[in-house]
Amino acid sequence: MPLTNEDIAVDLDKCPENMDLSTLFGQPGPIEIEIGSGKGTFLLNQAKAHPQTNFLGIEWANKYYQLSVDRMRRWNMTNVRVLRTDAVDFIGRYVPDQAIETVHIYFPDPWPKTRHHKRRFFNPDPILAVHRCLKVGGQLRYATDHAEYFQWTCDIIRNNEKIAPLFQEVDFAPTQAADEGEWVGSNFERKYAIEGRSVYRLALVKK
Ligand SMILES: C[S@@+](CC[C@H](N)C(=O)[O-])C[C@H]1O[C@@H](n2cnc3c(N)ncnc32)[C@H](O)[C@@H]1O
Repeated sequence: MPLTNEDIAVDLDKCPENMDLSTLFGQPGPIEIEIGSGKGTFLLNQAKAHPQTNFLGIEWANKYYQLSVDRMRRWNMTNVRVLRTDAVDFIGRYVPDQAIETVHIYFPDPWPKTRHHKRRFFNPDPILAVHRCLKVGGQLRYATDHAEYFQWTCDIIRNNEKIAPLFQEVDFAPTQAADEGEWVGSNFERKYAIEGRSVYRLALVKK
């Protein structure tokens, strides 16, 4: 049966806090989350490459959310769901401990002004929330074109006394969604590649 947009879009009003995320999907299997999934380019291609894995994209911009739901429906992606909400709030309230295999966060908004740094995803509380919901051995994967934000993130990951003991840095393997010369295969990576920007990357394993 072809999927409808309603099959793919997650209705947050029907989700209980601390929910069993497997109920969102039509098949059992590991669950991966993409925070800020944008137009869904990475999500679509990664999910095609891993049909036994379930992928949840979280995107708060309505335009991109709608676009990605449409895309997943057109490709009949039974292993993808998309949710429109604030990913930090969702992870904190709805995702149980050790429920997730991998969290992907690619080209997150860098919030370059100092007075906006508190809005960055890579602050201690959101990192701790992701750590809580990852399985032991699960990964938090991050890529950005923004050198200063990357340094900021590395500083927290390596030097924050609560966070540094929690993760081990490992090599960042290119995703299955990546084409030759890419690391991730997301829309922003492709846009920035045309401009010749560098891509900074971190892959962190939960100890
Ligand atoms: C720069 S874009 C990158 C999109 C995609 N990851 C890519 O690489 O092409 C960042 C995206 O994250 C979304 N976003 C930012 N903060 C978010 C949050 N707290 N929860 C959900 N989405 C968020 C934005 O709406 C935007 O679509």
